[in-house]
Amino acid sequence: MSDTYLELANSALGKKLFSAMGLPEPVTLRRENPELPHHLSGRVLVGASLGAVFADQIGSLLQGTAMELSDPLATEKRHLIFDASGIATADQSAELYEFFNQQIKSLPSCGRVIVIGLEPSAAENPEQGAVQRGLHGFIKSLAKEIGRNGSTANLLLVNKGGDAAIEAAIRFLLSAGSAFMNAQILRTNAPVASMEADWQRPLAGKTLVVTGAARGIGLAIAEVLSRDGATVIGVDVPQAEQELVQAMERLGGVALPLDITSDGAAPILRNFCSAQTASLHGIIHNAGVTRDKMLSRMTDHQWNMLMQVNLGSVQRINAALLETELLDNGGKIVGVASISGIAGNVGQTNYAFSKSAVIGMVETSAASCAARGITINAVAPGFIETQMTAAIPFVTRQMGRRLSSLGQGGLPIDVAEVIGFFVSPQAAGINGNVVRVCGQSILGA
Ligand SMILES: NC(=O)c1ccc[n+]([C@@H]2O[C@H](COP(=O)([O-])OP(=O)(O)OC[C@H]3O[C@@H](n4cnc5c(N)ncnc54)[C@H](O)[C@@H]3O)[C@@H](O)[C@H]2O)c1
Repeated sequence: MSDTYLELANSALGKKLFSAMGLPEPVTLRRENPELPHHLSGRVLVGASLGAVFADQIGSLLQGTAMELSDPLATEKRHLIFDASGIATADQSAELYEFFNQQIKSLPSCGRVIVIGLEPSAAENPEQGAVQRGLHGFIKSLAKEIGRNGSTANLLLVNKGGDAAIEAAIRFLLSAGSAFMNAQILRTNAPVASMEADWQRPLAGKTLVVTGAARGIGLAIAEVLSRDGATVIGVDVPQAEQELVQAMERLGGVALPLDITSDGAAPILRNFCSAQTASLHGIIHNAGVTRDKMLSRMTDHQWNMLMQVNLGSVQRINAALLETELLDNGGKIVGVASISGIAGNVGQTNYAFSKSAVIGMVETSAASCAARGITINAVAPGFIETQMTAAIPFVTRQMGRRLSSLGQGGLPIDVAEVIGFFVSPQAAGINGNVVRVCGQSILGA
C-alpha cells in the first residue's frame, strides 16, 4: 500500500510545494540494506553524566562496529548516546539538559538518540529511582521534537545484571532496523541464556515458527528471519496454502498449512516442530484478525472467533511447546499485540481485549520463562501499511498515518526487524518487554 502524501513530500516539486504551504513534510525513513543488514556506520557522540556506569562499555562496544566516535566540539552530524545512569538528584538532571541542548542540532536526518538509565530497582535509593523515572518523560518529549526529520529517541533502562546485555540493545537502536520504533522504553535484564554473537547472521542454523506467514507482517517476519540465517516454519490457514508454499519455497523454509484454531492444532504444530528439529529457537505468534463492530452490534461469533485466533490458540500453542523442552535454554516467544490493546479503539472491544491479553501473557510469563532460559516479549504495532490497514476508510487511514511523530505509517519490515532483534541470541537479556512499533503514534502514547 503506497502512501502518496509521503511520496509527494519527498519529490523535488513536492518539497517546494509542501514547504510553501506549510504542510508537514515526513522524511522517507532509512531502512536496513538487505545485502548488508545490521551494518552500523556513521558517527556517534557518547556523553555521560557524572557517576555514569555504562559509558566505557558503550565506547568499547562501538569500537567493534564501523561507527566513528565523534568529538563534542566537532560540528559534524552524528547520532547521540547519553549515559544518564549517574543522575541521582534534580540538580544533576541539568547534565542531561546541557548535553542535548548543545548537541541536538547535530543530529542527522533519520538520526538516533539513545538515553541509558537505571530501572528503579537498580537505583541506589528512592530519590535516584524517582529522578531516573524522569527520563521517560524526557525521551517521549524529545522524540516529538526530532521526529520531523525521521529521527527517533529511545530509552534503554538497565536492570540489575542487565549491563551484560546492553550491547545487542544499543546496536539495534542505532541500526536502520529500529526506524519505526520511537519513544520506547526498552529494558535489559540479566541474560537468561548464553549469548552467541554473530552480528551479521544471528539466526544461522536456527529454526523458528511464524504464524500467519503467508502475507503482511507475518511474511515480512519470515523474510527478516531468513535473511538473518533462520529456517522458518511458516504456518497459515489452508485457504492460503498456495501463497504460503510459494513464500516458504522462496525463503528456503517449510510450509505448514494449519488453522491454529482447529481441533488439536497445538499438538499438531508441536509434533511438526519436534520432527523438524530437536531445538526450536522460537515462535512468533503473528496470526491475527480484526472483526470491528460497535459492542452493541457485535455478534458472539465476532467476539469468540477473534478471541480464539488472537489469544486462545496462542496460549494453547505455548502450553503445548512448554510441555516439552523444545524451547529451553535460549528459546524465544514473541507475541504480536497492537496499540489498540494499549489505548483502546472504537469498534474494537474484542480486538483490544485480545491484544491487551497478549501483553498480559508477556507480563505474567516472563519470570517462569526466564527460569527455563526462555525470553518472552511482544511488539505492539501502530499503523502499518498492510491489507488490514488498506481496508480502513480513506480519511481515517490518512489520519492514522499522520498521527505519529514520524508523520507516516510503518512498513511490515519495521515490525519484523524489532522481532528479529527480540529473537537474536544476543538479546538473551531482553525479557518481558512490550515495544510499540508505531513511530510514536499519539494514540495511547
Ligand atoms: N497492520 C497493522 O497495522 C497492525 C497493527 C497492529 C497489530 N497488527 C497485528 O499484526 C499481525 C499481522 O497483521 P497483518 O496486518 O499482517 O494482517 P493480515 O490479515 O495481512 O495477515 C494475517 C495472517 O494471519 C493468518 N491467519 C488468520 N487467522 C489464522 C488462523 N486461524 N490460523 C492461521 N493463520 C491465520 C491470515 O491468513 C493472514 O495470512 C496481527 O496479529 C495483527 O493483529 C497489525
